[in-house]
Amino acid sequence: MVGNTIHSIEQNKLPEEFKIITIDSLEDVANSISTMIIRGAPAIGAMGVFGLAQAIHNMDKPNEEKIIKVRDILFKTRPTAYDLQHGLDYVMSKILSESDPDAIKRIARDSAQSYVDASAEACRKIGVYGDTLIKDGDKLLTHCNAGALATVDYGTALSPMRIAHENGKNIFVFVDETRPRLQGAKLTAFELHQEGINHAVIADNAAGFYMARGEVDMVITGTDRVAANGDVANKIGTYEKAVVAHENGIPVYIAAPISTIDFTCPTGNDIPIEERDENEVLDVNGLRVASQGSSALNPAFDVTPAKYITGIITEQGIFNPGELKKINQGGDSDIG
Ligand code: MRU
Repeated sequence: MVGNTIHSIEQNKLPEEFKIITIDSLEDVANSISTMIIRGAPAIGAMGVFGLAQAIHNMDKPNEEKIIKVRDILFKTRPTAYDLQHGLDYVMSKILSESDPDAIKRIARDSAQSYVDASAEACRKIGVYGDTLIKDGDKLLTHCNAGALATVDYGTALSPMRIAHENGKNIFVFVDETRPRLQGAKLTAFELHQEGINHAVIADNAAGFYMARGEVDMVITGTDRVAANGDVANKIGTYEKAVVAHENGIPVYIAAPISTIDFTCPTGNDIPIEERDENEVLDVNGLRVASQGSSALNPAFDVTPAKYITGIITEQGIFNPGELKKINQGGDSDIG
């Protein structure tokens, strides 16, 4: 955010075009999240807090009623990504005791910026902890995009890979293409290519083939919401990868800042799962591939039960999914 303008990469244009767009209104902020111009749970959280701060700045005499209306509009844009709710709650907690309009505007702006800075630092630390799991020569598999594009910087699942690579480890990444929107083929492959990390895009259906042949040492993905019992919602297809990994004795790590853990959500069954437009499944890149006249079902996320997860890599260290209660929710920064 520069001044009161939000700048964002237009992720729907990648990898063909690297375009930065400017966002000046609440409508555009909400649209950028729901149409996935910006996507990935921590990045959605960052857009949410900047969007709230921008809307408050643009208000004539901000008050609780007007601010809650904005929060509610943003909150509905993508229901599974917990970082959005977490970020909005954080900024709201800083401003609701204030009554002076200028102070509200200033605190909203400052708290949104500190939230975003702390989110970037959390992802860097995830990389440092996650790197300790990666050995020279390891072959890793990831699903969807949990890289810098999906966060403020570094990424979650891609942060350990990035740091392992910086530390001179020779790694290889199997990148699931991730139908229907192809975040793996379009975004993860783009990021790994930029970083010079060896990788290959594979059809989603090929992951089990490589796992069964003993070619995958570890699965690392991000998540949109972790329930208190360690169940994890992530991009549709993650559940299948985790079950097949478990069957083949391959460890499955989920990388997530603490802002993605919903301690108020008891289990994965309580996580709201976003359903998206059927045309994302019926079409590829806007071209119809399914038979005309057919309809489609398009859940954007699925839930991987905690029993399939080896560990959750956070900015406070690596936790067994059953021991999330050990996490200090205040954290190193107050966004935890
Ligand atoms: O629908 P998307 O592209 O927003 O889904 C993104 C994911 O599933 C990511 O794995 C998750 O948000 C974690 S991003 C660090």
